[in-house]
Amino acid sequence: MSARIIDGKAFAADLRERVASHVPAFRERTGRSPGLAVVLVGEDPASAVYVRNKGKMTRAAGMESIEHRLDAKVEQDELNALVDRLNADPTVDGILVQLPLPPHLDADEVILRIDPDKDVDGFHPVNAGRLASGLPAMVPCTPLGCLMLLEDELGDLSGKDAVVIGRSNIVGKPMAALLTAKSCTVTVAHSRTRNLPHYLKHADIVVAAVGRPQFVHGEWLKPGATVIDVGINRTEDGLVGDVDFDSAASMAGAITPVPGGVGPMTIAVLLRNTLVAAHRREG
Ligand code: GUN
Repeated sequence: MSARIIDGKAFAADLRERVASHVPAFRERTGRSPGLAVVLVGEDPASAVYVRNKGKMTRAAGMESIEHRLDAKVEQDELNALVDRLNADPTVDGILVQLPLPPHLDADEVILRIDPDKDVDGFHPVNAGRLASGLPAMVPCTPLGCLMLLEDELGDLSGKDAVVIGRSNIVGKPMAALLTAKSCTVTVAHSRTRNLPHYLKHADIVVAAVGRPQFVHGEWLKPGATVIDVGINRTEDGLVGDVDFDSAASMAGAITPVPGGVGPMTIAVLLRNTLVAAHRREG
């Protein structure tokens, strides 16, 4: 069997267009565009690329991009004060503090300070709790993007067996919560799981977010499984996912490539979350 390749790049472009199509009516009603504030501390080259792309795509969707670049040596108090100002600014609907932060700064403290209603990353514990409780929440962008790809591919997910590999607050935990809310039977595996093939053998859905290059082998998969690869690992052979693509593609029913799968979904969902935050704040 040769798996269908899930085109995240095309899905993300379509989602960005759908988001952009709602902006003129928002502007008509409110006299302003939805605003996304992005805070970048320091000069980490990968983070600088992400932030540049976010700014470009935010503007392309007709939204306001408010960028704050702080020196790598900025003190916690100054960063906290900026978050306080953005929380109070009525033209700011979404706040994203680019991670990782330099080691002298406490990311948890910053995340806790962001107004949960402006937390378009969905990292605030209030939003994690809302998601876990089935209440309206800002949902982290990458797992929500994975869910959109899965529903597009499979339709109703109810009753499916899903294995999420990885237990981070950013991907694994919210992914498991989202799949549980869609009535999947969810197993959360991780780097210490003793017999991963045992769990994967029955999985209709596999989401790999463990951060280890080519960790998941195709022979472990249930034939016809849908495989979502969140990994972005830079190796000597170039960019690879957490899934060994070639062996997995010969076993799976559908699979996301790296690059061009989950990656482009993150910013598209960020724009969607910003629009949702703007609509909620409006009324
Ligand atoms: N760094 C890499 N991806 C992300 C993201 O989605 N949000 C934030 N805040 N930082 C990141």
